[in-house]
Amino acid sequence: MSTQFLRDTVYNERGKNMATAMVIGAQWGDEGKGKIVDYLAAKADVVVRSQGGNNAGHTVVTGGKVYPLRLMPSGIMYENTICVVGTGVVIDPKSFIEEMRSLEEKGVKTHHLQISTRAQVVFPYHIRQDEAEEAMKGSRKIGTTKNGIGPCYADKINRIGIRICDLMDKEVFAEKLKYNLEYKNRVLEKLYGVEGFDYEKMLKDYLEYAEILRPFVQDTNYNVDKFIKEGKNVLFEGAQASMLDCDNGTYPYVTSSHPTAGGACIGAGIGPHNMKNIFGVVKAYSTRVGEGPFPTELHDETGDYIRNLAHEFGTVTGRPRRIGWLDARAVRYAAQLNTFDYLAITRLDIFDQMDEIKICVGYEYEGKEIKEYPADLNFLSKLKPIYKTFEGWKEKISDIREYDKLPQKAKEYVEAIAEITGVKIGIVSVGPTREETIVVKDVFKK
Ligand code: GDP
Ligand code: IMO
Ligand code: MG
Repeated sequence: MSTQFLRDTVYNERGKNMATAMVIGAQWGDEGKGKIVDYLAAKADVVVRSQGGNNAGHTVVTGGKVYPLRLMPSGIMYENTICVVGTGVVIDPKSFIEEMRSLEEKGVKTHHLQISTRAQVVFPYHIRQDEAEEAMKGSRKIGTTKNGIGPCYADKINRIGIRICDLMDKEVFAEKLKYNLEYKNRVLEKLYGVEGFDYEKMLKDYLEYAEILRPFVQDTNYNVDKFIKEGKNVLFEGAQASMLDCDNGTYPYVTSSHPTAGGACIGAGIGPHNMKNIFGVVKAYSTRVGEGPFPTELHDETGDYIRNLAHEFGTVTGRPRRIGWLDARAVRYAAQLNTFDYLAITRLDIFDQMDEIKICVGYEYEGKEIKEYPADLNFLSKLKPIYKTFEGWKEKISDIREYDKLPQKAKEYVEAIAEITGVKIGIVSVGPTREETIVVKDVFKK
């Protein structure tokens, strides 16, 4: 057999002109992935969202306007960049269409969208089930965004999900919806004691959505593979974050997808050899929305100061985000889960006026140092963070565009994160806009 047909050779050949990058949240979400994706997308030919749904809220700030994106890939601002909503995404068509229209109203074109035939569809019964489940759990609630994300992924795993390709076929869709709605109405009414839904109305609404979405629907698994083979600059956009990963995060206080590099391969429908330049986005401090233990959480005025200054309130739900010092041990764990190539540190400017800043470098339990992020949340809640304290730089950094021009004390802080996590710095973000970015590693040529 000719060696060119050996698997290794084929992938090494492809690797030579392959230009991919990936943006993954390294904490509990809201790190600034939208900003980093929008920045990198300036040189990308394709941006692919691979998991999550409208639980995500990714903010892009450009031309004096703020664009809060939910299902839309954060490359949408660039008319010539193909934006793929991939296989692993759960799509609420109503919410998605509203988002498309609201962008169009602001002058952002959406014709460069592609939607995977294999993506799952979110229905009102998922949303109601999410709400009822949270209410039933009481103090055990997860604090979900109540967008039906968990129930929709659960139906996928239970193999009763309805996919975009089903929605495109009226007969198949009508039959699947009938079965699902009878089943879901029984669950909603008998188990949760809440109202069910009318079949005819839901069928009519969804068939209308189907026609709006139809022009964008494609087999994106094949498209993405082809783009990579052609040597196009392909950027993968993660939603949520590593510590919210359903298997590897702070379970059960997680989302129901895999917001990690491995999850992005599955969600984009391509193999791991295609992934290069994996960026872990790390906010200069930690935040969390929803429930779950959070060892570095600040319940004092420093936490309030950061929340108000940085306006840390959920883009999707408006909930105040919980604030804490940077947990570098959690980020180190995320670096291991994702094999980060580079860190993108965001919101460093939020610390401009702080006297001192802390990083959690490990945990202590009964006099012993614990270096690993534990699976057992009961144990996690008993750990005390070990902090390293840094002096603040006390100057405005948002006008700085070169790494070397950052104040020495800011560099010490950033480099400590790189050292603890063992990952190089790729980007430092010093403000919400595209321009307020310091690039240490430029991954796409153009
Ligand atoms: P995502 O979910 O990871 O995309 O992050 P969100 O958009 O939910 O939250 C990040 C917030 O921080 C948004 O309001 C961004 O506009 C803002 N942001 C991103 N990077 C920076 C930065 O470097 N400095 C400041 N001050 N704000 C930033
Ligand atoms: P982006 O992409 C922050 C959290 C919810 C809740 C848990 C489960 O903007 O970073 P879900 O609705 O997914 O079942 O909720 O996950 N969560 C997020 N937190 N940023 C997000 O997205 C999130 N998406 C989900 O608050 O704790
Ligand atoms: Mg967000």
